[in-house]
Amino acid sequence: MYFIANWKMFGKLSTLISLNKVIKFLKNFKKSNITKIIYCPPSTLIRPMSKMIINSKIQVGAQNCHESPTYGASTGSINPEMLKNVGAKYVILGHSENRGSGETDKLINAKIKSATKSGLKVIFCIGETLSQKRKKITKKILSKQIALGLKKVKKRKNIVIAYEPVWSIGTGVIPKLDELFGTINFIKKKVRNIKVLYGGSVNPKNINELKLIKNIDGFLIGGASQDPKKFIDIIKKTYN
Ligand code: 13P
Repeated sequence: MYFIANWKMFGKLSTLISLNKVIKFLKNFKKSNITKIIYCPPSTLIRPMSKMIINSKIQVGAQNCHESPTYGASTGSINPEMLKNVGAKYVILGHSENRGSGETDKLINAKIKSATKSGLKVIFCIGETLSQKRKKITKKILSKQIALGLKKVKKRKNIVIAYEPVWSIGTGVIPKLDELFGTINFIKKKVRNIKVLYGGSVNPKNINELKLIKNIDGFLIGGASQDPKKFIDIIKKTYN
């Protein structure tokens, strides 16, 4: 099972202390051999975080990257090589918060190719909006995001998909369990041999329901991952 913390725009150097609780917890955690823990802090914290987690079960990832493999005139951007250089092993791509500010499927595809080429593993986010759900075009939307996002991407073994319905992010609302099971199944049929995670308002309460969905390979956790107690609770409860 994957537990991926997406800190979004959160955290200062002093926030990193909170990670010690998680590191300590993982030291004695019996299921650690079947668990992947990945923290995706803002870029400013990737380097200090990767120094902290040496000798722990935690790996570090970034929240986005530029598609260019080389340096360039692109103010504010960071490419995959630069992320790797400071300790990132993963990168989240296609997050709806970035799609919402203009990232197209084509651009996401270019980013996925560039990131995998440079050796980063990719957490590829897909998901429908509320109005798309209401129009009952969820499958169509997911199919398009998958087809365009993974177009001509050969190295799929270094990619996991995170299904994050946009209407579920930060709202406290999660999909109905049978619906979610069906959607995860649909994605797994579209892309063979790929891990599919769920993201959207995962918290220590609803994890007791979410863990019942047997085809989910893990969770991408936003808000609740900023609190080490909640994050640990989610991991513990998943296996209980
Ligand atoms: P929340 O867990 O805060 O709803 O965020 C989910 C998310 O967007 C993770 O990428």
